[in-house]
Amino acid sequence: MADPLWTLGEAIASCDGWPDGDMDQDAALSSVSIDSRTVEAGALFVAIRGDNLDGHAYVGQAFKAGAGAALVAENTKVEAAGPLIRVADTLKGLERLGRSARGRTRAAVIAVTGSVGKTGTKEALRLALEHSGAVHASEKSYNNQWGVPLSLANMARETRYGVFEVGMNHAGEIEPLVAMIRPHVAIVTTVEPVHLEFFGSVAQIAEAKAEIFTGLESGGTAIINRDNPHFGLLARRAREAGAGRVIAFGAHDEADAQLVEIQGSAEGSTVWARFGGEAIKYRIGAPGRHFVINSLAVLAAVTAVGGDLKQAAAALARYTVQKGRGLREVFTLTDGPVMLIDESYNANPASMRAALAALGAVPRSAHPRCIVVLGDMLELGDSSDELHADLAGPVDDAGVDVVFACGRHMRALFDALPGERRGVYAETSQGLLDALAGTVRAGDVVMIKGSLGSRMALLVDAVRKQLG
Ligand SMILES: Nc1ncnc2c1ncn2[C@@H]1O[C@H](COP(=O)(O)OP(=O)(O)OP(=O)(O)O)[C@@H](O)[C@H]1O
Ligand SMILES: [Mg+2]
Repeated sequence: MADPLWTLGEAIASCDGWPDGDMDQDAALSSVSIDSRTVEAGALFVAIRGDNLDGHAYVGQAFKAGAGAALVAENTKVEAAGPLIRVADTLKGLERLGRSARGRTRAAVIAVTGSVGKTGTKEALRLALEHSGAVHASEKSYNNQWGVPLSLANMARETRYGVFEVGMNHAGEIEPLVAMIRPHVAIVTTVEPVHLEFFGSVAQIAEAKAEIFTGLESGGTAIINRDNPHFGLLARRAREAGAGRVIAFGAHDEADAQLVEIQGSAEGSTVWARFGGEAIKYRIGAPGRHFVINSLAVLAAVTAVGGDLKQAAAALARYTVQKGRGLREVFTLTDGPVMLIDESYNANPASMRAALAALGAVPRSAHPRCIVVLGDMLELGDSSDELHADLAGPVDDAGVDVVFACGRHMRALFDALPGERRGVYAETSQGLLDALAGTVRAGDVVMIKGSLGSRMALLVDAVRKQLG
């Protein structure tokens, strides 16, 4: 049998804590969790104090769900129905546990950051590396000050490949995270105006992304988007940080992992690419050029960690999009099909353009009318309205017939559209419910997209209910 993720004794030593009373320090802990609702049997529950909730209030619930132990702050009263590990600060304790997991593994470690495409790239890496050896990857978008140490702390010692998502909203956030991860390979998917409200310019966002290279193991590999205008800066920062190698990916003439050609369909893309001297052809099971570009970074990383390029490329045929990031469903009505594209998880100028371009490739023979329902792209700062209005071009390029819009900023796009393309505007997504229900009919393709905070998912659910 494989060793447990942690024994209680190892966890206590790793997080610099102390046992609260007698306990069997050889007891096995099978996972680490900070959410009492998803605690698995035998987990170590770490009580984190967040802005709104304090995990210490849920210790009892975690034990009820089967937690094997809880990591809690000193001098804090909790419902102790099982072994307690005490520490001065639980987030620091979790970080120490994460660092220990990193310290004891011999895995090749990959860190993924970028303005968009981190989760998609991480999931594609999970798939691409699977048959080369045991993969451990971050769950969901666990990429922040608790998500990164939590992901590390859950890494089994036998892991061959560790893949970690790293995110940020502000300058200076990536550096401490990547110091815990210590990757052999660092990927920057792309640099775009996302979270612009917290930065003076996109160049400053590039600088913040470049922090990922500060954590590279000596001589490690930086994988950078050659098509991005900030490639030069990123490559320079990577070298300054001691990267042994920079691999450029993209369609650019000078890319090392280079796109040669794409043949797209509603189900995905066939890709011809060149990796160094090697020409390969593969399929990606999700439609959209952006996934193709991300896949070049994925395969470059696979080669950098010594994985099997051909097998990895073949595995990408099984890649599917994650919920809210372009998931397509076709409903068959008596008079014809309706395609619903759920893009409700995320929106910013880059992902909007990518989604609209993919929408434009949906064959219009089966779907003569194209409707988009767009909610605000959040956190864009002073240029927000302008960035919203700028989508008029991509909307036109995609051949969209009707635009439904909601949110304060999406008004700017709505007003910039020609009259015949304007559907209905409402202040909130809720306000579009009835109008949308009354509009969708057989033959439509309907794409719904906005930032998570714009609550577009309720429209997706409503359309799905109506048609399904
Ligand atoms: N290279 C790309 N260019 C533009 N858009 C992309 C790219 N890759 C993915 N996207 C789109 O960006 C959105 C977010 O994708 P994903 O969840 O992978 O990003 P993320 O960086 O993990 O986001 P988050 O910061 O929310 O964790 C999705 O709509 C996805 O289709
Ligand atoms: Mg993510």
